[in-house]
Amino acid sequence: MTTLDQTSGGAAASGFDTPEHQAKLAALYRDFDAAGMTPLWRTREGLMPFAPEPRAVPHLWRWADLYPLAARSAELVPVGRGGERRAIGLGNPGLPGDPYATPTLWAAIQYLGPRENAPEHRHTQTAFRFVLEGEGVWTVVDGDPVAMRRGDLLLTPGWRFHGHQNVSDVPMTWLDGLDIPFVATTDQGFFEFGPDVVRDTTTPARSRGERLWGGPGLTPVSAVGAQPSSPLMAYRWAHTDAALTAQLELEDEGHPGVVEAGHAAVRFTNPTTGGDALTTMRTEMHRLRAGAVSRPGRTTASSVWQVFEGTGTVVLNGAEHSLTHGDVVAIPSWTDVSLRTHTGLDLFAVSDAPILERLSLLRTHPAEQVES
Ligand SMILES: [Fe+2]
Repeated sequence: MTTLDQTSGGAAASGFDTPEHQAKLAALYRDFDAAGMTPLWRTREGLMPFAPEPRAVPHLWRWADLYPLAARSAELVPVGRGGERRAIGLGNPGLPGDPYATPTLWAAIQYLGPRENAPEHRHTQTAFRFVLEGEGVWTVVDGDPVAMRRGDLLLTPGWRFHGHQNVSDVPMTWLDGLDIPFVATTDQGFFEFGPDVVRDTTTPARSRGERLWGGPGLTPVSAVGAQPSSPLMAYRWAHTDAALTAQLELEDEGHPGVVEAGHAAVRFTNPTTGGDALTTMRTEMHRLRAGAVSRPGRTTASSVWQVFEGTGTVVLNGAEHSLTHGDVVAIPSWTDVSLRTHTGLDLFAVSDAPILERLSLLRTHPAEQVES
């Protein structure tokens, strides 16, 4: 920040550093404050830095810590109308006061006990669920029951009614991701209660949406045309796993497909556009084969990762962190990132890239320009 002295700019001969001038300047700044005015020359570096200076910090939450705490909450806190969900947000230490993982992304561990039912509601915030383990819960999106199983990605685009029911005798937990911070920052939040219990309690193996949209490359002629978010509410692990396996097999056979040596990746897309499945969040699954080392890089998108399977090491701005099943990582804008694994590593990733891309703000730096 520019100081009073610095504003004189060496202009002693002009009288800018005289006691009389300094007193008048101090009075001007006091009057600016009182009038709610802030001069750019005193705040430029904070408002317009030379490169992103995120308040959020790289951070890792251990699944070994998260799961027992979520389970304890189930013994003490019922699920029901008002609180709506037994979901515990992961707060970035660099963003005190808000349970935000990054400035745009909310990530939470949701825990639903045996036979519990989370009531229906809808909101403008877009959501997804990524299932680390377990099954037995159906999420009902606009009346369509969608089974939740290990490795699946389930979508709840904004303003769709949704509730959850656990029809099993064991608890289930998953990662919830929402654009809550972005929607809050832009004052776009609307919320509406729905039925106290999910409106369709049936438990089909395939949702109606999957029956309509789940054929690869097959669009129902009755619904041709672009939709802003995917009409497919479930992306099944069997398909994701097969696609990642195929990329690595193709690499073994000398064909293109992987994003880099030993690194397969798929993006969950909207079949009506080919773009991101959700309007505000990019969702992907990455697989590094045993022994793979990713190219270091950075992007202005902020992201959250969860380790699905395997172990490895992530290097964030030069600091190494070990990774294992279920661990969650927050990666702020412009963080140097690289990965390596001895055993093989499957990672789910979500970022705010679709927002930034649409606004022509997304920047990435290749390996040779990254200090690691
Ligand atoms: Fe919700």
